[in-house]
Amino acid sequence: MQQEIDGLRADCLSKLEAATTTRDVEDVKVRFLGRKGPVQDLMKRLRDLDSDARRAAGKDINTLKQELETSCDARYEALHSKEQASRLEAERLDVTLPGRRGYPGRKHLVSATLDEILDAFVEMGFSIQTGPDVETDYYNFEALNFAPDHPARDMQDTFYITDDVLLRTHTSNTQVRVMESSRPPIRVVAPGRCYRNETITARSHVFFTQVEGFYIDRDVSFADLMGTIDEFLKRIFGRDVVIRCRNSYFPFVEPGMEVDIRCSLCQGKGCNMCKKSGWVEVLGSGMIHPEVLKNGGIDPEEFSGFAWGMGVERIVNIKHRVHDIRLLSENDMRFHEQFHAV
Ligand code: DAH
Repeated sequence: MQQEIDGLRADCLSKLEAATTTRDVEDVKVRFLGRKGPVQDLMKRLRDLDSDARRAAGKDINTLKQELETSCDARYEALHSKEQASRLEAERLDVTLPGRRGYPGRKHLVSATLDEILDAFVEMGFSIQTGPDVETDYYNFEALNFAPDHPARDMQDTFYITDDVLLRTHTSNTQVRVMESSRPPIRVVAPGRCYRNETITARSHVFFTQVEGFYIDRDVSFADLMGTIDEFLKRIFGRDVVIRCRNSYFPFVEPGMEVDIRCSLCQGKGCNMCKKSGWVEVLGSGMIHPEVLKNGGIDPEEFSGFAWGMGVERIVNIKHRVHDIRLLSENDMRFHEQFHAV
């Protein structure tokens, strides 16, 4: 039995020597000292010895067991600290390395400009509401005083979905919708996308963004309209903006006008941006037609109001000198990156 004990010791120690990971050590330990291992086996065979031999052999086996346990634990510890050291090394972070640059998304120039426009009106006491892109003929035309055979319908080439349903051609569709669901005083701005069946060129597109606005209350006057538009344009284009109003026709306002600002590129001398006129058109507006108020359930004898509508891409075009609006709906990052500070 003594020989077997020595043999086991040598075998176990050499296997420990060969172990390269803590996992190997655990395997060796289980194999030699586990319940079904050879050391346990020797213990069982003590029964067959007489009492003196049993006592001597029992002592030797216990010593062997302790020795092997100690050796296993020592080897485990040694390998464990080596493994930990190499893991720490592998996971080391060099905090002095320059950081990796992220590329966060940014607002599109049209969205950023729209936000600027809405902020200006919200500060002036307007609230924001929106209407649907897919609209009925009624809200887009009829309720706005375009008679069925009114020639003004031809002013806007419309994408029809059915005879009666269309893609809105302007955000003016929100006017009567809002009137139907609220009582004066009403101060609303309504942004949204509009659609027209137009040839796509540098200046026109099949979709674009508008902001509609209207104010309805007792005694709202043309002077209120002028004051509001004037203040808004100063907020957007700067206090020294020069404004010009021209008489114009829209079926849903009376009187109607178009508002121009003096061309900021040539200071009114005439250039390509202003088509040599020295002025660029920024919005349409007017006093809301009594018929339109009636359609919205508002008594024109008691209330009056003004409305306006403007194209956001047009404002972008003037403010940022983007002369081809097709660039805005294409995804050339060389174009968009120029406006990241905006
Ligand atoms: N809806 C008109 C268009 O798209 C713009 C407009 C003109 C809106 C006069 C108005 C307005 O509210 O009063 O051309």
